[in-house]
This record gives sequence, structure tokens and C-alpha cells, in this order.
Amino acid sequence: MSLLVRACFGIHIYYYNCNYVTAKLYKRTSYLLPALRKSTVGNKNAPKSSSHEGQAATQNMSFENMVESRREEACRSILVQVHSEQSCFHLHKYCCQYGEVKGMHHYSLPGSSHFVLVEFTHKANVDHILKCSSHVNRKEVIPVRSPFLWFRAPNKPLQPNHTSSEPPTPVEINGNNIPAPAELRNWIQAAESFSDQILVLHRATSLNDLGSRLRFLTARQIELALSGLFPQITVMPFGSSVNGFGKAACDLDLVLLADKEETNDEDNSDCRIVFHAKTLLTNGRTQVQRHMETLGDMVQMLLPGCSHVRRILQARVPIIKYHQDLTGVECDLSMTNMSALYMSELLYILGASDWRVRPLVFAVRSWAREIGLTNPTPGRWITNFSLTLLVLFYLQQHSKHKGPVLPTLNTMISLAGSGDHRITSEGVNCTFIRDVSQLCHHMASSSKKLPNTDNLETLFIGFFEFYSSFDFTTHAISLTNGTSVTKPDHSPMYIANPLERGLNVSKNVSHDETERLRIEFRNTAWMLESVSLTPHETSLTVSQKKADEAWGLTALFEAPQSAAKGRNIFYLPTQRVPPPRIMDVSNLFQQDTDEVGDSFVRDSAVPVNTLSSNKQQSEVQGRLKPSKVAKVSRRVHRR
Ligand code: GTP
Ligand code: MG
Repeated sequence: MSLLVRACFGIHIYYYNCNYVTAKLYKRTSYLLPALRKSTVGNKNAPKSSSHEGQAATQNMSFENMVESRREEACRSILVQVHSEQSCFHLHKYCCQYGEVKGMHHYSLPGSSHFVLVEFTHKANVDHILKCSSHVNRKEVIPVRSPFLWFRAPNKPLQPNHTSSEPPTPVEINGNNIPAPAELRNWIQAAESFSDQILVLHRATSLNDLGSRLRFLTARQIELALSGLFPQITVMPFGSSVNGFGKAACDLDLVLLADKEETNDEDNSDCRIVFHAKTLLTNGRTQVQRHMETLGDMVQMLLPGCSHVRRILQARVPIIKYHQDLTGVECDLSMTNMSALYMSELLYILGASDWRVRPLVFAVRSWAREIGLTNPTPGRWITNFSLTLLVLFYLQQHSKHKGPVLPTLNTMISLAGSGDHRITSEGVNCTFIRDVSQLCHHMASSSKKLPNTDNLETLFIGFFEFYSSFDFTTHAISLTNGTSVTKPDHSPMYIANPLERGLNVSKNVSHDETERLRIEFRNTAWMLESVSLTPHETSLTVSQKKADEAWGLTALFEAPQSAAKGRNIFYLPTQRVPPPRIMDVSNLFQQDTDEVGDSFVRDSAVPVNTLSSNKQQSEVQGRLKPSKVAKVSRRVHRR
């Protein structure tokens, strides 16, 4: 049960001293256990997703407030590479000289590099510590100053200090730990019902608090680098990092807005003092491409931790792709993509308006990944974004007696207040209601039908039944009025862009892939009728084998058709990005695994999970042999 609790609520290991650890964990688990035991199915008060203490704090905020709060948090944070998790104590002590430390979050990346994200109470503390920081080998490095730092060994040996009088700052250890596939399987198997399995999957695999912090700090790096030229610059995360549908380790989509004033429509035209500036090229697209090229050079040549820079300038939206080795995040940086930002806001609002939406989207996206329908590289296959829109559209449907789970975009537009007016510089109207509670109130009070209280199991099955009979050949999906419409062109699949009318979000999807999707919908609808959707009875008399027998989601994901494609949620994905090229800083750290820090971890009542991901990978792969399952031939659909 304790594993399940950790999975669901992402309890990480906190330490400052042993008593503090024990007290803190006791406090958290004693509060969470009853919540987990209580069946969450169909319960509007179902425990909120995520470990994710910081996440929980931002959960009831509007999208704009959540983004602002995360951006402000990033301004008060620094990222420090350390020798090991045992360095946290010394780092904490050192940082306290510069101001009050609000929290410390440790994580490690492949190659055993350890980092601590330190959050100060005030931005001035960050300015102070950066002012006092220095470069190593100044003649050999580009002397960039940024909040990406190292913690080097002291010039004189440290004195052991077991009796610190510092206030107990919580230190999160291994905050980026993603459950090992076998562990995840156990948690899902141990759930009480199929609906609970979906909740467990969501909670165990969604982007956590540290993941969000690291993404906003990654955005801040670009902002700081360009702030001399553009003091009003904003680099905004969008897509799954902020829309509530992000997986742990998801990519970071960024949009760079050079001058905030323009987006705020502030009018300074009466001011007699004007800036000198270079004239824009007449061709706006060429201008953006040139800027992106320069930006790519800057990222590649100057910014610490940024590697594998690729310039994709011919795409409809030109982007710079790069990997931030210090935060472990893969980034797509674009300019002039405001409508995508508002799209993230729309998805965030829909996800927040009913507790079932995000777990359902997670389950469908996991399903698609398992059977190889989606792929991290763009191509002629359906994207996660299109799949998400398919789920949202399905939730807008209503039956004869039951109302829909989600409102249509038209309803959201009609409820928009004066503060919701948004039009991008390209003229895209992104006006819709931003107040989630008002939207929920409207949904509850305006429906003449019974409210939809279906549990996740019913909704999941209903999704596959709905799309098994959907005619993709003649019909398009429109979230604007929540109904299918006649296709305006001959694209194999047409999902109308909710904000940029006339654009097809699934334009990239080929005939073959549409056909495959249709077959998989039917196949899965059929499978859901045949696999067991309830856990197997376990008792002392029942063998362990029976208890381990796959059921529900596990059965669905481990079915021959998933495994035949050689991919499975219970296998670790192969690493997409080459190993980070972080400078070897081992000579900067002496053994500060000394005295206090070391004994903290060893003496702790809580086991510290220091298993490296490589070790986990080889262990898991040893246990599950793809070749075995790959032999099983694919079942043909029967409908
Ligand atoms: P993953 O990265 O796969 O986790 O999901 P994602 O939602 O971040 O998708 P993706 O990175 O492909 O796209 C990022 C965001 O860009 C989406 O969430 C949308 O807001 C937006 N977006 C993606 N595709 C389109 C499109 O075809 N049209 C428009 N207007 N926006 C898009
Ligand atoms: Mg993305």
C-alpha cells in the first residue's frame, strides 16, 4: 500500500533531520491513506492529482494566474549542480547566507549528475547570490552569468555540524523520479477498479511540481539572455507543459514574445521620446526566419546546458529545437505563436472543469502510445494534441437523457466577460470564458437533462464505442458546436481547429493512419468487452500467479496487439535524446559526502531511492522479454 500511496501522490523523500523526515512523512501519509482507500470513482471530491504539493497550490488558479505564479517562482530560483544528494545540507547552509530559502528540490539525470533547484523567498536573494558567484577557469569559458550554477568544494575543509539551528527547509530528494515500468504495473494492478486504474495511471505519470518548476526555469534562461535587448521579453511555456495534459518528461513548447507592451495593447503613442530601432523586413516570414536563425546561434554558442540545436525554419511555424542538459528538458522554441498559447489555455480550462477529463485524456493517450498510433517524431500519424481534441469532442456529446460532460466552445464564447477579450496580432479571436467556476456553475444550472455522472470506466469504454462508429470519411469534428459537420475538403481526417477556423489540426494524418485508427478503435471496443475489468480476487488460498494476472488497463496494454509492436507502457522507452553533454565537474567537488549530509541519508527512516535509471532499465528489460510477446500474432478486429 505504501508504494501505491507514493505512486499516487508522488511522495518524495524529504529530509532535514531524521525526526523531521519521519514527522513530515507521517503527517502526509496519515492524511493521504484514507483518501486513497476511499473509492474515488464517481466522486467529485476525488483526491486531487499529483504529489505535487506546489502543483496542488496552483491547481485551482486560472490559467493566467498559474502561469504568472510559476514565472515568478522561476525568478526566485536558481539551479545548482552538486556532487550528490548529500550536498543538499551544505548547499542549504551556504544559500542561507544570501536570504531565506523557501524550498530545495534535488534530482538526478542519466550519467549521475545531481542538481538542486533552490527557491528563495525573494528575487533579490537570487540577484545577490548571482552577483557573488564566479567563473571557473575564466580564460577558458564564455563568461555568461545565469541562474545555472555549480556548487564547488570549499577552499578550507568543512567542520562537521550536527546541530544546525537553521529552520527546517524541506528538501525534496529525487524529485524527478518516474516510477519504473514494473512498479507502475504493480500500482495499476493493485487498484480497486478499472476507474481507479485510470486515476493511478494519471497520478503516477503526470508532470509533477518539480517538472513544472524546471520548465519555467528553462524558459527563464532564454528570457534573461535576451532581456538586455528586449527588457519586456516574455518566453512563455505552452502545450502539454502547462495545459494540464502533460506527462512527466514531456517536451517543452516555448513561444518568445519580444515586447510585452504590444500584446497588452498599451498605448504610448503620445510619449515624445521614442526608441531608435532597425526597420523590419517587408516579408514578415523571412524576418521571423532570420531572427530564429540568430536565436539558434545564440542558444547553441552561448547558453549553458543548451545542446543539439536544430533549426526547423521552413515549417508553418518556424521553430528552434534544442535540449537543455541541465534541466533534462527537450525544447521547441517559436515566435509569433500566440494562438497556440491560447489553445493551451482553452485545454487547461476544459481539463479543469471536470475532474474526469485529464485522467481520461491520459488513458487514451497512453493507449495510443502503447499500440504505436502516436510517435514522438512528427509525421503522418495522429498527434497527442489531435487525440486530446477527439476526447474533448466525445465529452461534449450528450444522450437523450444525459447532458454532456463538457461545454461547447460556442457556450464558452457566449459566457465570455469583458476581461476575456483576446485577439492575437494575426487577428485570431481567442475570446472565451476564463472563469472555470462560473463555467461549471453554468453547466450545472442550464442543463435540462440529467447531469452526466458516468465513472471513468464507462467514459473510457464509451469513447471507443463512439469512435468505432464515427464516419471519418465524410465527417469533420468541430468542438465549436460539439457536433460533427460535413468535411470541407478531402483530408482523410478533419478536426477543425477550435480557434483558427478553417484550419485542420489533423491535416498531417494520412489515409492509412486514419484507417488504422478506425480499426484500433473497433478492436479496442471489442477487447474491452472481452478482458476482465475487475481485479482478480486475492486471498491466501489463491496463488500469487492469479493475483498477477493482468486485468483492466494492464490487460489492454499487454495484449498481443500492443506487444506485437514491440512497445509497452511497462517497458522503459528508449532514450530519444542523446546523453547530455554536461561538463565533467567532478574535480570541482571534493568529497562533500562527509559528515552530516551522509549520515542524514543513511540514518533516515525512509529508504532513499538512488537506483539509477540505467539499472532500472536493465532490470526491467531482463524481466520482460519483448521477443516472447512479439511472437503472438495480431488479433483481427471482429466488427
Ligand atoms: P505533447 O508534446 O505530445 O505532450 O503534446 P502537446 O499538447 O504539447 O502537443 P504539441 O507539442 O504537438 O503542440 C503544442 C501545442 O501547440 C498544443 O498543445 C496546441 O496548443 C498547439 N498546437 C499543436 N498543433 C497545432 C495545430 O495544428 N494548430 C494549432 N493552432 N495549434 C497547435
Ligand atoms: Mg508539446
